[in-house]
Amino acid sequence: MNPRLLAMRVLLQVLVDGKSLNACSTLINSSIDDAKDRAFARELSFGVLRWHPRLMFILSELITKPLKAKDQDIVCLLLIGFYQILFLRVPDHAAVSETVKLTQKLKKGWAKNLVNGVLRELLRERENIQIKIESDLVAKYAHPLWFIHKIQKDWPEQWEILLEKNNEQAPMTLRVNQQKSPTKEYQAQLLDRGFYSSPSNFSLAALVLEKPCDVSLLPDFDVGAVSVQDLAAQQAAYLLELPKQGRVLDACAAPGGKTAHILEVEPSSRVVALDISEDRTKLIRQTLDRLGLEAQLVCANAGDTDSWWDGEMFDRILLDAPCSATGVIRRNPDIKTHRTLEDVQQVVHNQAKLLETLWPLLKPGGILLYATCSVLKDENELQILSFLSTCADAVELKIESGWGNDRPAGKQILPGDNGMDGFYYARIQKVNKDLILESAIDRKGYI
Ligand SMILES: C[S@@+](CC[C@H](N)C(=O)[O-])C[C@H]1O[C@@H](n2cnc3c(N)ncnc32)[C@H](O)[C@@H]1O
Repeated sequence: MNPRLLAMRVLLQVLVDGKSLNACSTLINSSIDDAKDRAFARELSFGVLRWHPRLMFILSELITKPLKAKDQDIVCLLLIGFYQILFLRVPDHAAVSETVKLTQKLKKGWAKNLVNGVLRELLRERENIQIKIESDLVAKYAHPLWFIHKIQKDWPEQWEILLEKNNEQAPMTLRVNQQKSPTKEYQAQLLDRGFYSSPSNFSLAALVLEKPCDVSLLPDFDVGAVSVQDLAAQQAAYLLELPKQGRVLDACAAPGGKTAHILEVEPSSRVVALDISEDRTKLIRQTLDRLGLEAQLVCANAGDTDSWWDGEMFDRILLDAPCSATGVIRRNPDIKTHRTLEDVQQVVHNQAKLLETLWPLLKPGGILLYATCSVLKDENELQILSFLSTCADAVELKIESGWGNDRPAGKQILPGDNGMDGFYYARIQKVNKDLILESAIDRKGYI
């Protein structure tokens, strides 16, 4: 299939049907055999969504009457045309003619002149439009206005760089399965196949690829030598300080990236991996099978403990909470168009509920690791400060690390810091209530 046409189909599914880009990416893999064309279709789909707010601004500058709902395919074609002209090294004449040609394939010959005219107008007006972009917040930073305002409020010093970093492409980072081979050995195998990579100071298992590639090209990927996982996500297994034979709850586990890392770091762990989605629970099984690891898989709402908990308490709980995913916009640019302020309020409520319900399942002395791939304070430090203020047997354990920013509670990684995704971690220990009482008496001399 024509890569531009396929990109248009993907964009329609994301922008009109509200599907996730991730789900539509499989369409790209299954519809195009040629690797170069596949990469081009991916570039167009991801690129248009990455710059969507800016490209829509340009569209509003170039057409006076919005196109009808049934002609959103033509809107997508125009955005694909803009993206090629402004961001890719496709020669201008090819960007225009190849995009215009597709109006025929769509059996919308009437749109030929429109697409041709609008794209040529952009070529003529490029500089003037650039000046207008600079003076419009949404067009300049290519994010929705509610999000820009929220980031300005949460990160008054860093908001601009944060938004700019969100518009960059994230590196492809690997996690070498230490049960199979040391990182250095795997790096050498990669090099034999022509893939350059660098190790990281922040995870002994990590290798950052110089250029992303298809996982099927990675040595022994099928037999579990390696997984794809961002450096920020790799911190979870280390922060849990896993004891031998510890009972570990991974409360929101799918697709199982962190579950697997826990088992790679401490294979004696007895892991219960839970997810609310049946389809996504199957992904945990696939992840573990590929890596040759074992955990108890449960499909349930973690917050409904009566439905799944057997009464045995946990030494460690990982709550990788459902969140706004605003820290991983680099990898999922469709978040810009899908996410709303109301969604954020809903996830904040759900996170608080999950913290409250899972806390009683932790043994005294045990550690709960709270994680999100969000950059919003409501979901992160404010959530944890609120939890700590209401929970008498919870104390924060400081995270000592070379990455991230220390916050009043927990640690925040902003997107692009050390190349990492935007992530938040807080470690909370359950202390024995009697010990708290004793220490209060020690401090005050009385109760
Ligand atoms: C951030 S993802 C988890 C990523 C996973 N920890 C990993 O590293 O591969 C959040 C997951 O939480 C699941 N989820 C959302 N609400 C849940 C709930 N109430 N109980 C259990 N799982 C839930 C979602 O289906 C989703 O798979």
